[in-house]
Amino acid sequence: MIKRLKGEINLNPTVGMKKLLFCLLLLLCSLIGCIRARETAVPGHEGIFYPVVARNGMVATDNRYATEAGLQVLREGGNAVDAAVTVGFTLAVTYPRAGNLGGGGFMLVYLAKSNKVIALDYREKAPKAATPDMFLDESGNVDTEKSRHSYLAVGVPGTVAGLTLALQKYGTISLERALKPAIGLAERGFPVDEYLRGSLIEVKERMQSSSASMEIFFKKGTVPYELGELLIQKDLAWGLKEIAKYGAGAFYRGEIAKKIVAAMKEGGGLITKEDLASYKAIIREPVHGTYRGYDIYSMPPPSSGGVHLIQILNLLEGFPISEHGHNTAHTIHLMTESMKLAYADRSKNLGDPDFVPVPVSGLISKRYAEELRHKINLYGATPSNKIPPGNPMNYEESDHTTHFSVMDKYGNAVSNTYTLNFSYGTGITVSRTGILLNNEMDDFSAKPGASNAYGLIGGEYNAIQPEKRMLSSMTPTIVLKDGKPFLVTGSPGGSRIITTVLQIIMNVIDHRMNIADATNAVRIHHQWFPDELRVEKGLNMDIIRLLTEKGHKVVIGDVMGSTQSIMRVGDFFYGASDPRSTGGLAWDTDFCLGL
Ligand code: GLY
Repeated sequence: MIKRLKGEINLNPTVGMKKLLFCLLLLLCSLIGCIRARETAVPGHEGIFYPVVARNGMVATDNRYATEAGLQVLREGGNAVDAAVTVGFTLAVTYPRAGNLGGGGFMLVYLAKSNKVIALDYREKAPKAATPDMFLDESGNVDTEKSRHSYLAVGVPGTVAGLTLALQKYGTISLERALKPAIGLAERGFPVDEYLRGSLIEVKERMQSSSASMEIFFKKGTVPYELGELLIQKDLAWGLKEIAKYGAGAFYRGEIAKKIVAAMKEGGGLITKEDLASYKAIIREPVHGTYRGYDIYSMPPPSSGGVHLIQILNLLEGFPISEHGHNTAHTIHLMTESMKLAYADRSKNLGDPDFVPVPVSGLISKRYAEELRHKINLYGATPSNKIPPGNPMNYEESDHTTHFSVMDKYGNAVSNTYTLNFSYGTGITVSRTGILLNNEMDDFSAKPGASNAYGLIGGEYNAIQPEKRMLSSMTPTIVLKDGKPFLVTGSPGGSRIITTVLQIIMNVIDHRMNIADATNAVRIHHQWFPDELRVEKGLNMDIIRLLTEKGHKVVIGDVMGSTQSIMRVGDFFYGASDPRSTGGLAWDTDFCLGL
């Protein structure tokens, strides 16, 4: 052994010195390489999954028709907002369980020219005739049939106002162009895949109260579509053409509005002509925080998403998460305890900022996080009933959804999450419009302390009031690095949206994963009440045992979220669509595509 080694070393001092210098140079280069790789979460070859890569723009959605429609707009020179609005309208046709005209949502836009992030709030709002106790029965209990499955459950829709406002302010293409793919797909139809077929069979019973829905989504009003059969939506095509011709006015004051009001009268709903005419999408300041040197921009109230995303990141920033490792028992413990503290605050302090004083700057302050962090027991779980909401005021300076992300070659980025609330919302379609209605009124606290469909407990701040927007968890997010968009992400998932987005950011920043690995990694969630740590199948059983020993009640449940993310590193876009939801076509389960 020694001999062999000696034999390999050249003892000539000049050659030896040259070799030594060469080796030192190599070492230096690889060190620089390592540092650069650590600086930027490079979508590299170290991962198991490989992201989609492109140079001229990217679209990530839950649906291939929508992705292709958005991509075509980018191809023609349109910007990220043009593509996003086109995607939003297309999903209303090809992804009817969550894509919508009759719902609402939130859009975050990074504008390259002004180097600014804006937040567009097109959340539904309560009708003027809504009352705080409208969902309580005679005994004072919440009647969930009313709050989820009736015309009373419908909030005044915001999607058409939101998408048209985005296009008018920040887009470059005409509304007709943005609506063209949606109109074509509604008129000519598109083949039903397993995912759509399955989701319709699941919702059939709930949909049965609406003959307009049944006529559209079931053959002869009762029979499920077979795979490959065309789903044609003539009424929806009419509605989309009205919007193309007359703009948002068609929906809020024109022929569509008339039909919505007539349906409300017939079905016992509250939405009136005045409710529709007075609906406005609102441009708000996004919430902003930092995490280990990255700038995090996300949605402000009436979504709780951005506030609590930043609050949890602030709490976790105080721990060396990358040293603790990804999905180790200790990391999950720290994440869980941080999530509980944030969701406890959500139950008391969050609501529509136009109605209640949401202490946003306190909730996202680093000093408040410091105070809260001291409450975390490093070794064992604190039961949720021992965690009251905190007092952020002292620091004052607030299922089935779908998300899509777009980045363009001009440097703009869009992160959009919108929804009908449940899959297919109320299941009710407004007759002769093809428009499905949301059941977003259930996101209000029908009674303080009572939970909504996601088990989320709300307080007085989120009580029903006329024209108030119901609290949301939607968390469309844009992360900047050195002042430029680095990561665009978001997810559906009700109460689990916030923690899903959190884990994408942690996986990329703390655990240096590429965006495909960050997306596919097993997820966890805790929301204070119910006091259980929910994990996806696939979390190591040893970790589950260790967490149980720390006092966590671990529940293995269904998958959580369906993220659509794009990362920009250098000249390239790297993207990943969540494999947790698919279009069901084996040859095309990934809807992140680039140019
Ligand atoms: N409807 C779910 C949410 O807005 O959080």
